[in-house]
Amino acid sequence: MTTIDLLTVIYGTVIGISLGLTGGGGSIFAVPLLIYGLHSGVREAVGISLAAVGATALFGALMQLRPGQMEAKTAILFALAGTAGAPLGTWLGARVSDVVILTGFAAMMLAIGIRMWRQKSDSPVSAASGNRRNLCERKDDGSLIPGTRCIIALVTSGFLVGVLSGLFGVGGGFLIVPVLVLVSGMDIHRAVASSLLVISLICVSGVVSFIWQGGTIPPLLSLLFIGGGLLGMFTGSRLRKQFSPQTLRRIFAASMWGVGLFILTQNAMTAEGEKADPVVLKKEEIPDYVRDTGKSAASALGMSLKTMLSATMKEFGPVEAIKVCNHAAGPAAEAVTKQFKGGAEVRRTALRVRNPSNAPDKIDTFILHQFEKNFESGQDLPEQLVTRLEDGTYRHYQPLITQKVCLTCHGGKEAMSDPLRTALAELYPDDKATGFQPGSLRGVIRVDIKSKPDN
Ligand code: HEC
Repeated sequence: MTTIDLLTVIYGTVIGISLGLTGGGGSIFAVPLLIYGLHSGVREAVGISLAAVGATALFGALMQLRPGQMEAKTAILFALAGTAGAPLGTWLGARVSDVVILTGFAAMMLAIGIRMWRQKSDSPVSAASGNRRNLCERKDDGSLIPGTRCIIALVTSGFLVGVLSGLFGVGGGFLIVPVLVLVSGMDIHRAVASSLLVISLICVSGVVSFIWQGGTIPPLLSLLFIGGGLLGMFTGSRLRKQFSPQTLRRIFAASMWGVGLFILTQNAMTAEGEKADPVVLKKEEIPDYVRDTGKSAASALGMSLKTMLSATMKEFGPVEAIKVCNHAAGPAAEAVTKQFKGGAEVRRTALRVRNPSNAPDKIDTFILHQFEKNFESGQDLPEQLVTRLEDGTYRHYQPLITQKVCLTCHGGKEAMSDPLRTALAELYPDDKATGFQPGSLRGVIRVDIKSKPDN
């Protein structure tokens, strides 16, 4: 067994314990554990998590069947309504920004956490019936009286939880326990057990639609994860019986707070990251002097390189031209920058660079992807994109399209002559700028325009 296998089992166990202990809790940790702990891809993680959480929850639900701990009818009704709501959530999720969704989700978790923490009860059954806000009534033995109001409340809340699950991915699982407690007046032990059934049903539909949409679930990793999950579920369910409803609710409330705060910090960090995403100015927002300076500086560099390249290529061939390029490309950019007397700073960059010192920064990368997107969707590339940096500097980008002449040095490696390949390998051991197709985006000329020129 490798370390990774062992880790997979351990992570699975953690999920299983928290599922056994709190019902929905496990699902929300599964995806982050898979992504950050085992370096799964996001899509893959969602698939594995659905399968593993579903299988673990089902196992847990079956374990509860014997002691009669669970309210299967309530759970199934709730799950059906939830399954119906999930697609609406997925649909909504594609239309609202992540930050808004997650902040709402975290706020809700914190609020529910407080309510669960404060809720008082001594005996499980009376706790439920003593709660004015419960929409369902219960007999003295604690069994549910399925009145119309109760059924409507269950279906509506199940549907809403489904919508939220679809919206947040698997995170909605965490809501099932509190909603079952608060709406149906179920005691927490039963709610945890019932939520396991709800979760496994929702996961089954999730796995089916995941595979339906072309997703694949790696078998070995999933099996190990599920194995750990079953182990954890066994332990978690045992542990749960050691705790009073009060303690259990508080553990639950505390983990709601933990997850809520975790999401808020993650969110703040993403929001910070998003702030760094540059805003591309609309055409009418670009000041004339920026457009003019950008264009003329970019074409000055373009011309100077082109003249140099074609002259050397013709005279001495591509191997020499590469050497000239190596010596002269940097100085050519500096010369143009000097020509603009500090009003404009010019350089070339690309997503795949030949010279590492031409590597793009975060903003360059964003803009280059923007150009690529245009290109892939078959639109004409814009002549320029302009963005504004935090210090007020304008940044002007002009796309460079791969032409036939560029292919000698930027085309497929197999088409190059041996001396050319050797020269490239010597000068640029890290060369990533080969294999371009004619007509594709090779890179950009970037011009930083600091200040309005005095006139
Ligand atoms: C004679 C070979 C040769 C030809 C032809 C050539 N290039 Fe290059 N190109 C180079 C070399 C060498 C570098 C690295 C220059 C340096 O060290 O800064 C480079 C760098 C670049 C860069 C800067 C980013 C990077 O990868 O480091 C861009 C953008 C670029 N070339 C675009 C083009 C385009 C567009 C064409 C065609 C119009 C072209 N090149 C034709 C050799 C060539």
